[in-house]
Order: sequence, then structure tokens, then C-alpha cells
Amino acid sequence: MSSANCFSLTALLSLLSTIVAASTTPKGQTIEVNGNSYYVSTTAVTTLKIPTGQEHQKNGLLPLTVIRSDASKLTTSLIKSLVNVYQTDDDVFNTGFLENIFITYNGTGKKPSEDVSLPSSWGNKFLGFSAAYSTKKVTTSSKSIPPGPYFLDAVTGDVFEAYLLYSDVMGSFTQGLYAVGDGSYDVLPASLQGYASLTIGVPSRLYFTKTKHKPLAGVRLGVKDLYDIKGVKTGCGNRAYYETYPAANTTGPAIQSLIDAGAVIVGKMKTSQFANGETATDDWVDYHSPFNARGDGYQDPSSSSSGPGSGIGAYPWLDIAIGSDTGGSIRNPSQVNGCFGNRPSWNLVSLDNVMPMSPLLDTAGFLTRDAKLWQIASEVLYASANLKSYTKYPKSIKTIGFPTSASTEAYGIVLDFVSRLSSFLGGAKVTTLDYDSLWESTKPSSVSANVTLGMMLNITYPILISKQQFPRVGQSLYTDYAAANGGRKPFIDPVPLSRWNWGLQYPESQLETEIKNKDTFTSWWNSTVQVFDPVTCSDSLILYVGAAATPTYRNVYRSMPGIPSGFAASRIANFAGVPDMVVPIGQAKYNSTITGQKEYLPVAVDFIAPHGCDLMIFNLVNELVAAGIVREPVAGSTLYGDETIYYH
Ligand SMILES: *[C@@H]1O[C@H](CO)[C@@H](O)[C@H](O)[C@H]1NC(C)=O
Ligand SMILES: *[C@@H]1O[C@H](CO)[C@@H](O)[C@H](O)[C@H]1NC(C)=O
Ligand SMILES: *[C@@H]1O[C@H](CO)[C@@H](O)[C@H](O)[C@H]1NC(C)=O
Ligand SMILES: *[C@@H]1O[C@H](CO)[C@@H](O)[C@H](O)[C@H]1NC(C)=O
Ligand SMILES: *[C@@H]1O[C@H](CO)[C@@H](O)[C@H](O)[C@H]1NC(C)=O
Ligand SMILES: *[C@@H]1O[C@H](CO)[C@@H](O)[C@H](O)[C@H]1NC(C)=O
Repeated sequence: MSSANCFSLTALLSLLSTIVAASTTPKGQTIEVNGNSYYVSTTAVTTLKIPTGQEHQKNGLLPLTVIRSDASKLTTSLIKSLVNVYQTDDDVFNTGFLENIFITYNGTGKKPSEDVSLPSSWGNKFLGFSAAYSTKKVTTSSKSIPPGPYFLDAVTGDVFEAYLLYSDVMGSFTQGLYAVGDGSYDVLPASLQGYASLTIGVPSRLYFTKTKHKPLAGVRLGVKDLYDIKGVKTGCGNRAYYETYPAANTTGPAIQSLIDAGAVIVGKMKTSQFANGETATDDWVDYHSPFNARGDGYQDPSSSSSGPGSGIGAYPWLDIAIGSDTGGSIRNPSQVNGCFGNRPSWNLVSLDNVMPMSPLLDTAGFLTRDAKLWQIASEVLYASANLKSYTKYPKSIKTIGFPTSASTEAYGIVLDFVSRLSSFLGGAKVTTLDYDSLWESTKPSSVSANVTLGMMLNITYPILISKQQFPRVGQSLYTDYAAANGGRKPFIDPVPLSRWNWGLQYPESQLETEIKNKDTFTSWWNSTVQVFDPVTCSDSLILYVGAAATPTYRNVYRSMPGIPSGFAASRIANFAGVPDMVVPIGQAKYNSTITGQKEYLPVAVDFIAPHGCDLMIFNLVNELVAAGIVREPVAGSTLYGDETIYYH
């Protein structure tokens, strides 16, 4: 009896000890400074040792500004001008951080002199200077601390970074993320007011200095949710997929190269389901389509890099996003959300740990408003391809399906752009390219004389994506979901489901046929239509109209999903494996049925060049920006306007 009691007590104690040993993981906190909300992680970047007698009178986390100067004589006006720079260069900083000030010296001289009285309006507590200065010495645990806004633990002296919080009012993201420091990422544990909106945190821009090895230092990057990021679940736009698989245990090489170059991942961004083409709103069953900030705010953001397009079109605080393009998934969102976007040459970067659609067509590229950043990020992402940087340009422009007169405002913009481009290139000859008739006169002898391009390639794209994606993604999801859910089938959105099922009706031999057709096209294209040139990389620039300010309202009920068959200019890059880069060239008015007013939508032109000529186009676009022929867009409802976003 007593031994039985004793036994159960032991059992209870061991149970209690299990409970008591529960692990707790502090995940940081949010703090408001002058009405702005900040996330503060638990990882201190440095510790300030404040001399005795100068201790802080307050407890808790307090706003702190670190001022950094290499001036041999520090003066009040110098400090004031540094703070002005912080205010204009950084959205995260605000004057509330001037409550506590720490000044650190990063010059080369031995002892800088200081003659400083801080403005009383700053309401500050001056903590002191770093040890390099002669007086009021404060030491830090790290050799150098970048300038900017921080939070100071007044008791321990620990200093934490400040992440300004933004509400994802356009529904562009699937998750806010922050780096936890061991190469993995965690979901940002913070939330702001915002109807069904996620919260995204961005670190101060003042913490980062770009260098040769960190050309992307501090660049705020959004990642389409089909790239694995260590510690975070990948959803691919499907609820069953998100539930079925664990968090990724590795970050793929493409994303890792951007992290290594200094990019700051702020979140995962929405993709249409399994990167298939879904049109807002009725195709988006599992998740709501993100909003397109341009025009009346009720236009389709296109797919499948819908989240990246939406976020870049809407948020001035987001610098760049990485998407993927199999059949237009970067180009189409770039065109209608008014930003630069590139489908690169095929096979420039490893797509390990990226959800595949068709490995023979899949590519990784960027969406951004900043032409220089577009190029720099691409040079990082495609580094292993050793692309040659051509700075001389073709003297021939070939246009596909261009308007012949300025019958609409958008067409006027397109024609004006081509004539300015031609002059810029020293009077490049502009001709029209009719690839269908060129095919008829030059098609390879292996193809029957009565086979048009449209016939040969009619189902090449849908066969490649359905027959390559289903066994790699769909089949295993069916199996894994059924195993975890008593044999049940997962829900699949109508568009990917109809494509997969259509592909299943065809034998494997059809895939082989279509791969052959694709290869026939590639060699015909690169030997006959647009060929490599040793000086300019390409014999010509091939252009087509990417966007002509045509509305696609998201509140329209459309037809049943169909098969993306047929051939068009936008398929050239897919099949030929060549770069196709979207350049926003203007905006044109339309009468909005939503607002009852004139609104503006983007006008864009696509540039096509031979495989490996990506950097030639990047160089050209940056020269066009410098020459004022291409104007970089801003975020908001108009491309060059006031950064207004409706509905926030
Ligand atoms: C000191 O830091 C500031 C701000 O980070 C920087 O602009 C400056 O170049 C640095 N000076 C030296 C000598 O490193
Ligand atoms: C990582 O995850 C993959 C896929 O789920 C799995 O095959 C692999 O064994 C995991 N690796 C480690 C080190 O856990
Ligand atoms: C094309 O010509 C071949 C013979 O060269 C013929 O067998 C085939 O039926 C023709 N196809 C079409 C669509 O006319
Ligand atoms: C292209 O394929 C679609 C889908 O199978 C079919 O409906 C259409 O008739 C085909 N068109 C041509 C020109 O072969
Ligand atoms: C042209 O296409 C063929 C195959 O279709 C390919 O092997 C070759 O590398 C391509 N050449 C260039 C310059 O892209
Ligand atoms: C907008 O409506 C006005 C008046 O109905 C019309 O004159 C104009 O052509 C329309 N503009 C466009 C771009 O459709």
C-alpha cells in the first residue's frame, strides 16, 4: 500500500517535472514610438556600458539613436545635419528615437575633439560618446555599431534593432518573416490594425552599408511562396499543401545567394496556386488574390507572381521581390503592376528547393521599381552563369504586333518610345517582325510543309506544364495528403486541377513530341530570327507591347478555366529559353467603372534578346533611365504620382 503510494507520488513528480521543464522561447515584443509600431527581437546587437554616475533613470526598452561620425571635430551643427540625413534616408527612424543619444566615432584620427550641446528640443538623455572621444566614455561590446534607431535596455545596456511595422493592406504577402540568426527564419510575431492584413517588419536602412561582397546589403526582399526558406513552411498557394508538409529545413541556393549578398527577407509573397495562371477573383478559391495598386485598385494583379507584383506596385518600403516565370509569371504581373520584371535566360541559376512547374521552362527573376537594383540583384542571382556584360547595342529594332498609329493614348506612348529608343541607338532601323510568315519561308526541312508555327506549338506549353508538374507536385500531394487524412483527396483550385487532368489524358509520348517541338523552335529562333552578335550580343532588339493600359477588373465573372494553348509573342522566351524583360514606359488614362473617374494604368514594352544577353538589356535599360527615356515608377495608384494607395 505504502509502496504503491510512493510509486504514484514518484509518477506524479516525474509528470510535474515534465510540465515544469516546458520550454519557453521569448519571441520579442512590439513598441510604439511617436505613433509608429516597432518589432524588437530578443537578440541584442551590442551592449553599452554606461559609466557609474551616468546610469539611466528609467527602466525598460527605451528608444535610442546611435549617431556615427568620422569628423575630427564634432559640432552641434554636424550632429543636427546627420540626424536630418537619418530622417530623410530612412523610413524606420523618427525623432522619438532622439530620446536617448549615443555618439560613436569611426574616424581614423586618435582623439577627435567635440564641442557639442544637443538641442534641448530633442528631449534627450545624452548617454555619452564612444571611448574614442576624450570625455563621457561609454564602451560597447562590439567594435562598431551602425548609426540609426535602436532600443536600449536601460538596466542591462543591451541594444536591439528597430523593425518598423507595416500593414500588408494589399494582401501581397503570405507571412511576415525575420531572420533568427542561425540561417533560419521565423514568422514575424507582430500584428497591426488592418482588415485581414498581415504585418511586415523592415529594419532601419541606416544599419547597412553596401560593399563589393554585400551589394544587396539592407535591400528589402519579398520572396514568392514557392521558394523554400529554412524554418518556414512553403505553401505554393494551396491550403492542403501548406498543411501537409513541414517547415523547410534548408534555403535553396537561389535565395541563399541573395541572403549572402546582404538582402533582408521581409516576407513570403502570394503565388497563384502552384504558379498556374489564375485571374482575380473567381479562380482564387484557396486564397484571395492580392490587390493591384494601379488605377482604381480593382484591377487583376495577374499571376503567378501576383504577390510580388502587387507588393512592388503598392509599397514604397519594399525594394524588390523574387518571382518565378514559366509561361509569363514574372512578366505579366510586372506589366500590369507597373514595374520592371525579367524572365531571364533559361537555366542561369539552380532551382533546387523551388516548387517546379516545368523544369524545361522554369526561371527565377525579379520585380522592382529600381532599374539599377534590378541589375545588381540579377548579377548576384546569375553570378555562376558568368554572363558577359555588353555595353554596345544592336542597331536593329524589330517589333511584334505594334500599333501603326497612336489611336489610343497607350499606343501613342508606345510609338513615341520606339522612336526615342531608335534615336538613342543612333538611328536604329525599326522593322516589323511577322514570325508566322518568316516561319513559312524558313522552317526546317524536318517539319512538314503544311505545319504552321501555331500548329506545331499549339499544345507545347500546356503539355509541358501539366505533364511535368503533376508527377512532381500533384501526385505526391495526393499521396501524402491521403496518408495524413484517412484517404481523403486534397482540394485543388479549378485552374491547376483542370490543367493536370487535361494532361493526364495524353500519353507520355506526347511530352516527348512537345519537347521536340520546343527544341525545333529554339534552334529555328536562334539561328534564323534573332542571332548572337559578338559585339552587341544580339543582331537586334525584339520588342512587343506588354501592357497597353487595358483594364481587367477583378469583380468580373469569367469563363471556366481553359487550356493555355496557342502561340503568341509571350511564348517566344518560354520556348527559345531567351530573356524577355518588361520595361514600364508610361501610363495611360481609362474610364474606371469602379471610381467613375479617369484613372491611369501602366504601359509596358517587353525586350527579347538571345540566350545569355541579359546584361546587355540591363545596361541598355539603365542607360535609357539615365537619358530620361525610361522613367522609374513609384509605388501607388499612379506610376509617377504621389505614392497614393487607395483602400488602406
Ligand atoms: C563612419 O560611418 C558613417 C556612417 O556609417 C559612414 O558614412 C562613414 O563613411 C564612416 N567613416 C569611416 C572612416 O569609416
Ligand atoms: C530535409 O527535408 C527533406 C524533405 O522533406 C528531407 O528529405 C531531408 O531528409 C531533410 N533533411 C534533414 C537534414 O533533416
Ligand atoms: C500535312 O501534310 C501531310 C503530308 O505531307 C498530311 O499527311 C497531313 O494530313 C497534312 N496535315 C494537315 C493538317 O493538312
Ligand atoms: C489548339 O489546342 C486546343 C486545345 O487542345 C484546341 O482546342 C485547338 O483547336 C487547337 N488549335 C489548333 C490551331 O490546333
Ligand atoms: C540554339 O538552340 C540550340 C538547340 O535548339 C541550342 O543547342 C543552342 O545552344 C542555342 N544557341 C544559342 C546561342 O542559344
Ligand atoms: C472616357 O469617357 C469619355 C466620356 O464618355 C470619352 O469621351 C472618352 O473617350 C473615354 N476615355 C477612354 C480612355 O475610354
